[in-house]
Amino acid sequence: MPAIKINSTPPGPKAKKIVEETNRVLSPSIARFYPLVIDHAHDCIVEDVDGNSYIDFNSGIAVLGVGSTNDRIVKAATEQLKKFTHYSYTDFYYENINELAEKLIAIFPCNAKKEAKQVFYGNSGTEANEAAIKLARYATKRPRLMAYTGSFHGRTTGAMSLTASKIAQVKGFSPLLSGVEHVPYPYCYRCPLKLEYPDCGFACIDYIQENYFDKYVPPEEVAAFFLEPIQGEGGYVVPPDDYFKELFKRFGNYGILFADDEVQSGMGRTGKWFAIEHFGVVPDMIAVAKALGGGLPIGALIARADLMTWQPGSHASTFGGNPVAAAAGLAVISEIEEKKLMDNATRQGEYMMRIFHEWKEKYEIIGDIRGKGLMIGIEIVKDKKSRQYGSAEASKITEMAWKRGVLLISCGRSTLRVVPPLTITRELVDEALEVIENAVAEVNKETVSKRNKLN
Ligand SMILES: Cc1ncc(COP(=O)(O)O)c(C=O)c1O
Repeated sequence: MPAIKINSTPPGPKAKKIVEETNRVLSPSIARFYPLVIDHAHDCIVEDVDGNSYIDFNSGIAVLGVGSTNDRIVKAATEQLKKFTHYSYTDFYYENINELAEKLIAIFPCNAKKEAKQVFYGNSGTEANEAAIKLARYATKRPRLMAYTGSFHGRTTGAMSLTASKIAQVKGFSPLLSGVEHVPYPYCYRCPLKLEYPDCGFACIDYIQENYFDKYVPPEEVAAFFLEPIQGEGGYVVPPDDYFKELFKRFGNYGILFADDEVQSGMGRTGKWFAIEHFGVVPDMIAVAKALGGGLPIGALIARADLMTWQPGSHASTFGGNPVAAAAGLAVISEIEEKKLMDNATRQGEYMMRIFHEWKEKYEIIGDIRGKGLMIGIEIVKDKKSRQYGSAEASKITEMAWKRGVLLISCGRSTLRVVPPLTITRELVDEALEVIENAVAEVNKETVSKRNKLN
């Protein structure tokens, strides 16, 4: 039986009314993909207020790794809700955040030195990165920070200063944090240096040395290099396998810390606990949030214990490490381990990648396919030769997919982001891909015929 059920093309009457109310009472700073109004959800199926059922291919923006209303999470959170809901871990003690910290430390990628780690809790990705900024500066006594163009690290002023993915996210908010430098991300499909991997010999790393560290950014003043191992909001961009090895080798010698933002790519999403594990390097700290709480807000910074030199009172958060969210976090980790969800992510991801590569051969508007596990980007272009961003085309595809029962969103300028829960089954993948392919085929036909008319 198909999982998708569309009674009438969304948005239905109830959804329209709620959207109207939302626009009246909520801040207009939020940009939404399409007017989907949720009523309830379970695992990979979402039902809207008008009774339409959809396959979830975005996991509430990479949060619902173990699916919606996962039974184990609901049970763990409910039990904790009845015990106590809050008692500020920054002022008092309770046990389940220690247990969660032990788990996070245990899954942190290991290096030969097996350095001890410690955990700081906040409530979100931006707070985890904010903690990373403060800790890196505090521990190294160095003022400067490096980050990538195309990156997204959050929206508080510190994290936003590292962010460089969309103008709307930063416009009007300057001055931002001083001492932050952005360098080109290894976005090989659109190489900023117009070179080709591997012939380029990582010229983009030479570029950082020559144009920053040799010119105006003394490397010994740099506290940390912030990186997303796979760029998320920037367009699901995957660097070459040995890129980070080269980067860490070259710049680790300056005593620069590597702060790995796994807010979107972490917690099993790519088939490993952390996406950085695909690249054979070990960072000094990792920021996690999103999927960690299975839908409840929690963020964490896991860092080398020898860096955690900051004094009592130097950093804290009233709601950080909320015990209900921590109970959910423990349930998320058990669920991923016991149900072998990372293996499923790898299997379903490889299956989809094979199909997407076939689509790339078939459709003129598919420029690039990239991803690991269930973090896959399909870059839409106007045509393969010009590689011009197909932003309107990508929006059309996501809107069509939604109206036909698949919750698909985009990222970057024109990339479809395929990020279903790690629990997704082959049947649901096949049903969703049929909808997405039909939308791609229609938009492809329209785009090609428009171009032919112009020529
Ligand atoms: C890589 C990355 N870092 C940080 C953030 C910010 O997380 P939050 O929205 O929980 O503050 C996001 C959110 O999309 C993200 O993708």
